Amino acid sequence: MKKLIVANWKANKSLLEAQDWLNHFLTDENLSMIDPEKKEVILAPAHFLLSTVAKFSSRASNLNLAVQDLSPYPAGSYTGAISAENLNGLNVKYALLGHSERRRYFSETCQQVAKKVELALAAEIQPIICLDLDYLDEQAAALTEAHFKKCMVAYEPLTAIGSGRNETTSEVAKAVKKIKRVFGSVPVLYGGSVTADNVADYRKVVDGVLVGGASLQAANFIDLIQQV
Ligand code: PGA
Repeated sequence: MKKLIVANWKANKSLLEAQDWLNHFLTDENLSMIDPEKKEVILAPAHFLLSTVAKFSSRASNLNLAVQDLSPYPAGSYTGAISAENLNGLNVKYALLGHSERRRYFSETCQQVAKKVELALAAEIQPIICLDLDYLDEQAAALTEAHFKKCMVAYEPLTAIGSGRNETTSEVAKAVKKIKRVFGSVPVLYGGSVTADNVADYRKVVDGVLVGGASLQAANFIDLIQQV
């Protein structure tokens, strides 16, 4: 299976900064190193940047778009929310759901994440459920089997996110086993202080990586893709 490399920009980048990044990143030379048989690069910008990134990424077949979150409600009177339906026409292929920063700073629950999964699937957006092992069982229990079979999981240990303390491959391999015991044979990604220096270590144990800090500078992210 090809490796997924997801750039999670979180709440970083203005419009101009995003355009700069895209101009730097989307050169023919850079795009040619993303062999579509072997790698899929996914950009997850803040919501307001999605249409800008969509315009740029449509130039490259091996580049896809993810949304960082979705509303747990459908289209309608939910001021400030972004529904799955809002994204029609933007070619959003994936949704990061239940990121630990959403759970921590926005009190998101496993039930809300399950609702988002249901709405994403209904809109034909592939959910990537982010979780740590502490709430693996609770998150799985909140989902129907039909739903979780269609998801990907990003194993994101809280201690590793943004800390510079990436987990060892053997710890990640153990976690992947636990996740597959609960979720079945879904693709599993790893996220938590992944950089160009350590990404190659994870090649054998996961189906891809979720990259925060090391995706913010185009040059760093290009290095990282080369190492996968
Ligand atoms: P990090 O973030 O790479 O900065 O640790 C990863 C994530 O939160 O998805």
